[in-house]
Amino acid sequence: MKAIVCTKYGPPDVLQLKEVEKPAPKDNEVLIAVHAACINQYDWHLLTADVFMVRLMGGGLLKPKHTRPGADMAGRVEAVGRNVQQLKPGDEVFGDLSACGHGAFAEYVAAPETAVALKPANMTFEQAAAVPMAGVTALQGLRDRGQIQPGQKVLINGASGGVGTFAVQIAKAFGAEVTAVCSTRNLDMARSIGADHVIDYTQEDFTKSGRLYDLILAANGYHPLQAYKRALAPKGIYVTTGGSLAQVMQAMVLGSWMSETSGKKVRGVTAAPSQKDLLFMKELMEAGKVVPVIDRCYPLSETAEALRYLGAGHAKGKVVITVKQNGKT
Ligand SMILES: NC(=O)c1ccc[n+]([C@@H]2O[C@H](COP(=O)([O-])OP(=O)(O)OC[C@H]3O[C@@H](n4cnc5c(N)ncnc54)[C@H](OP(=O)(O)O)[C@@H]3O)[C@@H](O)[C@H]2O)c1
Repeated sequence: MKAIVCTKYGPPDVLQLKEVEKPAPKDNEVLIAVHAACINQYDWHLLTADVFMVRLMGGGLLKPKHTRPGADMAGRVEAVGRNVQQLKPGDEVFGDLSACGHGAFAEYVAAPETAVALKPANMTFEQAAAVPMAGVTALQGLRDRGQIQPGQKVLINGASGGVGTFAVQIAKAFGAEVTAVCSTRNLDMARSIGADHVIDYTQEDFTKSGRLYDLILAANGYHPLQAYKRALAPKGIYVTTGGSLAQVMQAMVLGSWMSETSGKKVRGVTAAPSQKDLLFMKELMEAGKVVPVIDRCYPLSETAEALRYLGAGHAKGKVVITVKQNGKT
């Protein structure tokens, strides 16, 4: 089978499309024919190791620990290990394999059955593959770390990216009044996915407007922690998924101090792959409350190009890899 192989850190050119052995599922695993995979900033960080912590926190000190990259995927179960109980051959599934070996940028991958869930019936493989990491990050950021409540005023900074486009829709599904912060070219898209208000960050700094928010999810961009604090309502919660390194460091270093000295909370989210949350997202999608926004699709052979595009930081929603099965996409 064909798979993307990565044996050293570097720019996307280090990725190679190779012929490798098709995996065999272990007793608790399913073998999945991958129809679509999806790229995340996570893949970019692991590939380029531009954040030194990636090397120290499980990415491999001098070279990638996982030589077969790719976390998010959707596909059809082809075979099951003898202890598999939830799935059978023919089932269509989606999932995030970042906690169980990666390998999604390939024609086939073997994964524990608990790492995947049945694909939403109304979604294509491309749409389903777009969901796991970004959708679950947005969900865990808003629901678990942000304790989102109906009627709250919620602001999503970086609303046009992978995490942000899910966050806008999930916050709406929870009954919040949502403000999306993005650039001029993405304002209409943000409205189309349900944002009640939009702010063009090239024209206005929302942290200086005087408007207050119960919950701010910072997916992208940068503002000093003090500026976010200014935009929070008295008991407001600020949750960051990432954005600039400075933003993440400030939340880590000053967050607990600020949480203790004011009624406002500062939190980070490190999304944990979860079958339960995949099923939660499946329900939202089947109810028509969440529809993944896909910017571009690339064939498996152009995975390096897809990573280069995402790595530039201006994707509009998700960047998907389509994988041919039996000669068809
Ligand atoms: N903690 C976790 O578990 C976790 C999981 C997933 C992702 N993350 C992190 O979360 C962050 C967001 O991920 P993502 O998948 O959404 O990234 P992404 O898809 O690459 O984000 C791209 C989007 O960010 C927007 N953007 C760029 N600069 C901005 C600014 N100054 N203000 C507002 N928006 C801006 C871009 O819009 P324009 O081009 O129009 O500016 C583009 O639409 C990343 O840092 C990622 O590493 C963390």
